[in-house]
Amino acid sequence: MVDVLLGLQWGDEGKGKIVDFFAKDYDVIARFQGGPNAGHTLYVKDKKIVLHQIPSGVFHSNTINLIGSGVVLDPVVLKRECELVASFGVDLLKNLFISERTHLILPTHRALDKASELSKGNQKIGSTLKGIGPTYMDKTGRNGLRVGDLLDKSFVTNYIKLRLKHQRILDSHSFNEDIHEWEEEFFEAVELLKSLNIVNGEYFINQQINDGKKILAEGAQGSMLDVDFGTFPFVTSSNTISAAVCNGLGIAPQKIKDVMGVTKAYCTRVGSGPFPTELENETGEKLRSIGNEFGATTGRPRRCGWIDLVALKYACMINGVTKLIMTKADVLDAFDELKICTAYNIGGKNTTTVPFQMANLKIEPVLSDFPGWNQDTTKIKEFTDLPQKMKTYIDFINKETGVNVHYISNGPERDQLIPVPKK
Ligand code: GDP
Ligand code: IMO
Ligand code: MG
Repeated sequence: MVDVLLGLQWGDEGKGKIVDFFAKDYDVIARFQGGPNAGHTLYVKDKKIVLHQIPSGVFHSNTINLIGSGVVLDPVVLKRECELVASFGVDLLKNLFISERTHLILPTHRALDKASELSKGNQKIGSTLKGIGPTYMDKTGRNGLRVGDLLDKSFVTNYIKLRLKHQRILDSHSFNEDIHEWEEEFFEAVELLKSLNIVNGEYFINQQINDGKKILAEGAQGSMLDVDFGTFPFVTSSNTISAAVCNGLGIAPQKIKDVMGVTKAYCTRVGSGPFPTELENETGEKLRSIGNEFGATTGRPRRCGWIDLVALKYACMINGVTKLIMTKADVLDAFDELKICTAYNIGGKNTTTVPFQMANLKIEPVLSDFPGWNQDTTKIKEFTDLPQKMKTYIDFINKETGVNVHYISNGPERDQLIPVPKK
């Protein structure tokens, strides 16, 4: 069977840490969408690692890692990451597999991303500029090149054709940065990619399922960044929700069992776009500094705010979340007072529905107050030892979302994860 683990907010919920924790219980960890816009942080031997392309199970020698066909892959980022991971003694030929249908991010896709953002001025998305949007556009526009194409002798000819097409668009943006170095790096990295295990991803994963293997699909970004259901147009260019597991890996919906949704105990967002509970004040800054809220991919400061149950309930609904995992609960240790958003007030009316369009609306969050626990929880190992006030805070979230928190993360390290006993 296949379980899914994904983010329920605007990304950076701590998916990497949680996947790394669970990886020992799974035979395969598979990324099904997104690309190097993701930055998944985990700790190996006390060393902080940020993975962008390789699934977060890679440090477990008995776990296979699959980059699925729904992912977009930058060979340059992959090469860098392979070198990093291999320096920890990981044998990538044994435990990394890449679907031949995975679309390639070309140097010109990155240039197009940059040109597109520049042309948007103050309406920019705040993209990570990794070429994600243009690559998915070439996929749905039926122009893109895929990992399997690298093995074909016409690859360079097809690359040049696509590059010319891109160049015309870049010219129309008056974008004339020299990307020759990017191209050199690209072709060097392609050689490494060709030497890795390139497989037919859909047969590969279905064989694993038929063999009774346990599979965990690792999401990137978060549900509110989903291209269909997120805060469009301030979203990423892929479907980030559980439905995307099927077309991102080539598996049937009946194979999916648990959908584990990760939420922070509060909320963050990096990049532009609506964020109803954002705190543009000292409290927001306190969350940022205690939570060390700086982008794992771009280093940008993350916008911070209270947890938003309107968005969280919506995310639980569209994903079919069966288990919640709450991360960064420890970040709230030093607050006297906490707040939870239970509704949006729009034009004097309260609603618990995520509006079709948030960007041009003035949304006031309706907030419930909760007392802070004012206690260091980072060393606690058992649920029973957690402060009652934290339990009350979490109970409220359980009741409102209708899904229970099954794990509470109280620090960035692998062992800082507390299981919640069944009631
Ligand atoms: P991802 O993209 O969802 O994998 O999340 P990121 O790695 O981008 O961001 C999560 C950040 O929070 C990383 O720096 C993690 O090391 C850190 N982190 C994860 N869980 C916890 C936690 O429970 N407490 C604290 N303080 N930090 C955490
Ligand atoms: P992980 O997997 C947080 C955001 C960008 C921008 C928007 C579009 O680490 O949670 P893109 O580069 O996709 O064109 O950017 O989406 N974004 C993320 N924010 N975490 C991520 O990934 C993100 N990936 C993209 O900041 O607002
Ligand atoms: Mg991240």
